[in-house]
Amino acid sequence: MRTLLVDADPQGSVGLSLTRQSRKLNGFYDVIADHDVPFDQLIVPTRMPTLSLVPAGQSSDYELGSGIGDSIHRVKTFFNMAATDGYEVCIIDTAAGLFGVTADVLAVCDSVIVPQQAEPLGVRSIPKMLEALTRMRVVNPRLNVLGVVMTMVQNHLAESLEAVQALRNLLPQNMVMKNVIPREDIFLKASAKGLPAGVMEEGVSVLAVFDGLRSEIEAKFSPYIR
Ligand SMILES: Nc1ncnc2c1ncn2[C@@H]1O[C@H](COP(=O)(O)OP(=O)(O)OP(=O)(O)O)[C@@H](O)[C@H]1O
Ligand SMILES: [Mg+2]
Repeated sequence: MRTLLVDADPQGSVGLSLTRQSRKLNGFYDVIADHDVPFDQLIVPTRMPTLSLVPAGQSSDYELGSGIGDSIHRVKTFFNMAATDGYEVCIIDTAAGLFGVTADVLAVCDSVIVPQQAEPLGVRSIPKMLEALTRMRVVNPRLNVLGVVMTMVQNHLAESLEAVQALRNLLPQNMVMKNVIPREDIFLKASAKGLPAGVMEEGVSVLAVFDGLRSEIEAKFSPYIR
């Protein structure tokens, strides 16, 4: 599927880790700030013909001044432009929290995945987060909460595995992905190099993890794909 990976986090991690010069590029927040940027100027191609990036953009400090619900129609405009350009899937990395532009993205998108580090304090906030996401369905009845994916799991640390288990005990079974992302040096090395972990020589092991996650997510999508 033609896929667009969109950096909607003002800190710009997707752009910073995958394209070096991303601060100078136009991007998502330039559309949100209502600048008249042609859509093709937002697109950064990758080595994969089906995957392109949209960096956060030059207006990414825009987030600071915005109120809830200010930019829903601009987010819609962005999605419409992507669809018109032939993109079938938009994966949007948002800032943490459920306010500002993140809330506006949730008000318009189809599905949401919540990544959560496997540590005891963070895990405790997840039920409230899922309740808040469920409340978002008042504004966006289509919103499909796909569930939580545990990251930074340390298999040799009892506390880390207990945090995963604690979340599985707290939530309905289908709300925590079976595949978890382990804590591995490869991610730090990949981000230092500005490369996706999967294309690194040592990346083979994490490829299998993400492939498992991909098929799990695909199965959750299948009722929605026609
Ligand atoms: N599974 C992992 N194993 C080891 N290091 C990791 C892992 N995931 C992320 N990291 C490291 O942590 C850094 C931040 O990770 P990431 O950008 O995914 O965090 P985030 O949850 O998106 O944070 P934020 O909430 O600030 O957006 C990465 O650049 C990488 O160095
Ligand atoms: Mg992030």
